[in-house]
Amino acid sequence: MRTQVAIVGAGPAGLMLSHMLHRAGIESVVLERAPREHVRTRLRAGVLEQGAIEMLRECGLGGRLDRLALKQRALDFRFGNRSRRIDFDAEIGRNVWVYPQHEVVTDLMQAREEAGGAILYEAPVQRIEDLDGSRPVVVYEEAGQTRRLACDYVAGCDGFRGVSRSFIPEDRLRVFDRIYPFGWLGILADAPAATNEIVWGCHEEGFAMQSIRTPAVTRLYLQCDPDEDPDNWSDDRIWSELHKRLDVDGMPPVNEGTITQKAVTAMRSFLAEPMQWGRLFLAGDAAHIVPPTGAKGLNSALADIKVLARALVEHYADGRDERLATYSDTCLRRMWLVQRFSAGLCTMTHQFPGQNPFERRLQRADLEYMTGSRPGRLEFSENFTGLPVEA
Ligand code: APR
Repeated sequence: MRTQVAIVGAGPAGLMLSHMLHRAGIESVVLERAPREHVRTRLRAGVLEQGAIEMLRECGLGGRLDRLALKQRALDFRFGNRSRRIDFDAEIGRNVWVYPQHEVVTDLMQAREEAGGAILYEAPVQRIEDLDGSRPVVVYEEAGQTRRLACDYVAGCDGFRGVSRSFIPEDRLRVFDRIYPFGWLGILADAPAATNEIVWGCHEEGFAMQSIRTPAVTRLYLQCDPDEDPDNWSDDRIWSELHKRLDVDGMPPVNEGTITQKAVTAMRSFLAEPMQWGRLFLAGDAAHIVPPTGAKGLNSALADIKVLARALVEHYADGRDERLATYSDTCLRRMWLVQRFSAGLCTMTHQFPGQNPFERRLQRADLEYMTGSRPGRLEFSENFTGLPVEA
């Protein structure tokens, strides 16, 4: 089999790339290890930056999004028994939207399927050959058979645990990593959120968050040990910790409901440099991971794809390769700013084991400055609603 662009992985990055290439008349084949329903229903991130929303609308995916996405104009920080909102709409006229990742994936799958796009599920990629030549080949398995897909370019969109990154020679690849000494216990509860805003509880006992999944379902998180067993958390313990960390005077308390899901996520920051080698381009979680605090995982994957799709379109339409040649530099410049924001917020809002009282007071002062001064609010608003993709 032969195609123009072979795409490894059918997460949001891989599907979005194949959709954008198709709109520009460029052929691709997506190879995905997991079954279709597994990919479609995986619960992940849920907040989209304004730029991501605009990108989805621009490429014809605005239909369900415009009906279902919930616009968020502010974030409510709670500490010292007070609520301190940062109203990004008022600060800079930009917003974020709650629209879960599985909805984005559902929209993309539907668009690709309606267009007859080639997505092979249960087709794990084993290796990539000749990346430094002009005719790379992706070797994958399908129904027990080894098959070969020849192509011009390979997009490695196969997530943090994918194989693509390992085909950049070791002496060319540098990885930067930080593992946090805590995780998040994530909960879905059948209850409308107490307020229609994302709330962050920055409490001495640990971080907590209230977000909105749908008007009838609340998404809640509690900082916990990184290897915590969710079964150690009874429903009573969960609600009592959520009240302790999120409730403040003058605001409605966390709204309780039946808990339908509990899972622990570990937290890390990770970035691989460069994001391209020969004819391979890494995008999304294959190249970078952020702690979920800033809600940047899905948004960063879409930002990479915006750059990569444009570069490939320029190559095929006009034979211009400047954007392809600078893909990694363009993405890394933005991604380090995103890493800075995500790691900084995570450090400002979570309790670290062994932290001393001085460090806790500094954290509090950082929160005071960010929420209580105009430069602090502007910086948060600009980063949270999304930095420009190509400066
Ligand atoms: N062959 C084929 N597919 C593979 C292989 C392989 N060897 N290894 C992994 N994959 C697939 C995975 O099964 C998964 O469906 O690659 C896909 C990668 O998708 P994601 O992990 O969703 O990564 P990405 O598209 O970059 O999206 C980033 O995902 O982790 C979340 O919150 C994060 O929102 C962010 C988003």
